[in-house]
Amino acid sequence: MSQAEIGVIGMGVMGSNLALNIAEKGFKVAVWNRNDAVMRDVIRNAGPLAANFTACNTLEELKAAIRPPRPIIILIKAGDPVDQVIAQLRPLLEGHDIIIDAGNANFRDTMRRFDALKDSGLTFIGMGISGGEEGARHGPSIMVGGKESSWHRVEKVLTSISAKYKGQPCAAYMGPNGAGHFVKTIHNGIEYGDMQMISEVYGLMRDGLGMKAAEIAQVFGTWNKGRLNSYLVEITQTVLSVIDAKAKKPLVDIIVDKAGQKGTGKWAAIEAQNLAVNASAIEAAVDARIMSSMKDERVKADKAYKIPKKKIAVKSHAAFLRQLEGALYAGKIAAYAQGFAVMETASKEFEWNLPLGTIASIWREGCIIRSQFLGEITKAFKKSGGGNLLMAPVFMTMMKKDHASLRAVVALSASSGAPAPALSNALSYFDGYRQSRGTANLIQAQRDFFGAHGFERSGEQGAFHGPWSKAKLKAQSLS
Ligand code: 6PG
Repeated sequence: MSQAEIGVIGMGVMGSNLALNIAEKGFKVAVWNRNDAVMRDVIRNAGPLAANFTACNTLEELKAAIRPPRPIIILIKAGDPVDQVIAQLRPLLEGHDIIIDAGNANFRDTMRRFDALKDSGLTFIGMGISGGEEGARHGPSIMVGGKESSWHRVEKVLTSISAKYKGQPCAAYMGPNGAGHFVKTIHNGIEYGDMQMISEVYGLMRDGLGMKAAEIAQVFGTWNKGRLNSYLVEITQTVLSVIDAKAKKPLVDIIVDKAGQKGTGKWAAIEAQNLAVNASAIEAAVDARIMSSMKDERVKADKAYKIPKKKIAVKSHAAFLRQLEGALYAGKIAAYAQGFAVMETASKEFEWNLPLGTIASIWREGCIIRSQFLGEITKAFKKSGGGNLLMAPVFMTMMKKDHASLRAVVALSASSGAPAPALSNALSYFDGYRQSRGTANLIQAQRDFFGAHGFERSGEQGAFHGPWSKAKLKAQSLS
């Protein structure tokens, strides 16, 4: 029997789905799982695809089953388990074999693993995969970081199994070492932003306008036919339409308002801070998940403050819904501008040369944030090659119009007492970004006052200090 093209370690949902996807595209895949019975079950249920599987009882067998240089995908729980499997593989593998971590790894771990394998003759790929279980089985978006030669070894398999946008594969080489996992982390940060802004708009419809879940579902359905067309808006419509069989009510009204998080959104926010890039809408989305988790405290505070959420008084329901659509779109532009700005800065910092246009293009299908909007971003980067998306002509035209909706919606949310942290931060980012004169002159003066940090003077070169002690004395004598 001919050798397998690639190996997969880990037959959990993601690993088995990816292996089935590989087998379906006509490639032989060698698989190994710590629990043998689970692996046998996957193959037993694979139907005709089982013929493309080689089940291996040991890692030695796995090595022997794959065509060298051997690419082996690890799809197990992120963190220590990955290090353990790498330690087991390291003495077995040889001559440019490629260990591929396809989990949601922190890119700093990927960089460490890459370095640790540098002199071993083996290579490492940190591969971000988006699209959940369905994506893994039928076509995910794939972001690869590592040596370009390793990418070329796996390119055929990965582009075959990836999602396709108008026939173009949604899999690409992002750059060396941690680039792939970094891009996936920012994808998830943006995903948090998108989901939070959608939920804020939902909240305004539910509490501000008193709309029922089914009515809100219809609004999302309409929006999904326009420029907001996206997977997340589509599933929002579906989710809002489901009736719980037991309670005979919309399921969404029964689900507790506490959102979990596995950590990738938080990493995106942390790295934005590390790189000194403003990603306030994404950070607000992470913070909103934290606030959501404080359910007991929120219930107590609600009882203690007794400030009711006000209904939003609108002259025209339809006009307000149009404003919400505009606000969501404008908020999206700001949040994506932030995510791409983080990637552009990281690219320079880590010398990755991240292909921003390609990243937008491979997110058009397969991944969780797939949308029509990413088509616009792809075109914008094709023209500009980089820079803040708020300065791309297509988005400038949109923001010039839609900032008014975002502003109106944020103002209404504030006056009604409904928090809209991601939308508010998106607006503040836009307003801050387009101010040629801000207020940090006062902060510089304060810093110089208490810490002699110095300041620049308009129109003059050099660092200056203020005559603060005199001012202080004068202020004291006036009081
Ligand atoms: C994807 C998703 C996927 C997963 C996240 C969710 O791109 O397929 O982002 O990676 O759903 O882990 O993360 P949270 O648990 O942090 O929401």
